[in-house]
Amino acid sequence: MAVLILGATSPIARAVAEEYARAGRTLCMAARDLEEAERISADLEVRYNVEAVAMAFDACDFDGHGQFIDEVEKRVGPVDVALFAFGFMGDQEQSQDDFEQARKVIDVNYTGAASLSELLAKKMAERGRGTIIGISSVAGDRGRASNYFYGSAKGAWTLYLQGLRNRLADKGVHVMTVKLGFVDTRMTFGMETGIPIASPEQVGAAIVDAQEQGVDSFYYPRFWQGIMTVIKGIPERVFKHLSL
Ligand SMILES: NC(=O)c1ccc[n+]([C@@H]2O[C@H](COP(=O)([O-])OP(=O)(O)OC[C@H]3O[C@@H](n4cnc5c(N)ncnc54)[C@H](OP(=O)(O)O)[C@@H]3O)[C@@H](O)[C@H]2O)c1
Repeated sequence: MAVLILGATSPIARAVAEEYARAGRTLCMAARDLEEAERISADLEVRYNVEAVAMAFDACDFDGHGQFIDEVEKRVGPVDVALFAFGFMGDQEQSQDDFEQARKVIDVNYTGAASLSELLAKKMAERGRGTIIGISSVAGDRGRASNYFYGSAKGAWTLYLQGLRNRLADKGVHVMTVKLGFVDTRMTFGMETGIPIASPEQVGAAIVDAQEQGVDSFYYPRFWQGIMTVIKGIPERVFKHLSL
């Protein structure tokens, strides 16, 4: 049974893949950039002596998703664990000026993720086993002026995963939601966070550990649960005047 990593060029995705490779799992490393996915796969094969296959996919190529998933299973066998690590933050102001940009943010983070997830969920439910791991964000917990396109797409993805978990709970399929705070990747490069930032390796280890324990949903770093409880508790009449 194989592990499918969607968004394989993300450092978080790579860290999760390394955890599974260390455990001897067969991997399919899927990314938009096939050459980079091939390099990452070759590195995993050499360092961990596992089979790692590279494949190309685009989260926004909805019509191609069915064929892509079939091809993945043809190459590596049934997918037992699927990690959804792709994402796109975009630029909030650009998204306000140009809806095409906003639509891309929505499509990558939500529509594309839901499209691929439905296909995998169907196959896993038929087999009566499997795990879908969806990486979401604390940005999806409350709408903020500074990133509400990304936040709303992640919020929709969080709710989608919750519903899917509910649907598949008695079908042997586990759906896990990972709500990430700041992680040191391209996405946060140059950001002044003022809050400690996690390494991709810490996130990778936490995700695989939680998956093995059958956790449904968790924040990482863990202190974000407390931060978001406070942020969600601020009354809207106050919150709307805060520049967050
Ligand atoms: N870093 C953080 O602080 C943070 C916080 C909360 C949540 N997250 C989430 O964590 C996940 C990983 O992000 P990251 O921080 O590792 O950032 P990243 O390095 O920018 O990784 C994002 C990944 O998404 C892929 N991607 C973007 N658009 C795509 C598309 N249309 N089709 C397929 N793949 C696409 C990128 O591929 P390319 O290499 O081709 O661009 C890249 O592999 C994302 O879901 C992100 O939203 C990150």
